[in-house]
Amino acid sequence: MRKYIGGFLELELFDKLDSNYHAGAIALSCGRAGISHIINRTNMIAVWLPYYTCNALLEPFERLGIPYRFYEINKHLELINQPVLCAGEYIIYINYFGLKTSYVRQLQEYYSDRLLVDDTQNYFSHGYINSWSFNSARKSFGVPDGSYTYGPAAQIGDTIGYPENTNYNVQHLVDRLRGAQDLAYEEFIKYEQTLSSEPLKMSKLSSSLLSQINYTVVAAKRRNNYQLYHNALGKFNNTLLLPLDLVALSPDTVPFCYPLVLDCSVSFDRRILFEQDIFIAMLWPDVLKRRPDGYTWERQLAQCLLPLPVDHRYGPTEINHVVTAVLRLLNN
Ligand SMILES: Cc1ncc(COP(=O)(O)O)c(C=O)c1O
Repeated sequence: MRKYIGGFLELELFDKLDSNYHAGAIALSCGRAGISHIINRTNMIAVWLPYYTCNALLEPFERLGIPYRFYEINKHLELINQPVLCAGEYIIYINYFGLKTSYVRQLQEYYSDRLLVDDTQNYFSHGYINSWSFNSARKSFGVPDGSYTYGPAAQIGDTIGYPENTNYNVQHLVDRLRGAQDLAYEEFIKYEQTLSSEPLKMSKLSSSLLSQINYTVVAAKRRNNYQLYHNALGKFNNTLLLPLDLVALSPDTVPFCYPLVLDCSVSFDRRILFEQDIFIAMLWPDVLKRRPDGYTWERQLAQCLLPLPVDHRYGPTEINHVVTAVLRLLNN
């Protein structure tokens, strides 16, 4: 970047000293950039991907011409058949909702440096010895870009040679902050389409914003909110076959959302929640459009999952409001 001297001042940024939560990682612009970096650092010639994912995960492989095959997961959100990898083959597993850390450790034992853990729903992880992982800061915080990649020490590399991401926009973040929700949502959708899977260094803006966060407080809030949902809705949440009570999960679990999977034979309408200003995304519409057909459970999951928000903006008042709205939806 050119250095200009004098004139008016830029946005004031303060990096808090010694506060890089992901100090041991490679700081890039987004999760896809992290995958591209991993591809650059390995001899990857093919990859196994979960069918239950969004198209963004496929992007770096398509851009770099790396062929991929899909695998199926079960109601524990674990692989139905664990592929035996040929030379140059890798496998990605998503730590779904940040709740699958114990299972990731089993995969890590088995696949070692051929495993890429998609921690885009598990920002708080500090990586896994000998396996690769990447997260995505935008999924957990109001920042325009940012992702941290971890990997085996001998292969991890650095960001020297990558340009800095300067092509970011914060309009949607500022508009949401000032309450212009509809406008911000439109801007957010447009902005997301501009993100690329090229490896770029994380912007200075996101790096500074992320250094200001009190991660201990944020993690505690996520865990509390999650457990409030579970206490109220756990009895309806019987489709997923994984422990959902926090006490039964790995002690370092910081959930991404509360995954309420409704009875798929009963139809429900997310718009009823939307009309009450409760925005529950579908994870992921891409699954319903993807070829090949089949993967019945993955399609059901996309349709019947309500990923209820647990993030640090919220506390008991908001969680109760969402619970009441969901209970009304169930009784309709
Ligand atoms: C499961 C999953 N993996 C990877 C990505 C890619 O992350 P990013 O958008 O930061 O590149 C996303 C984002 O949409 C995702 O949902």
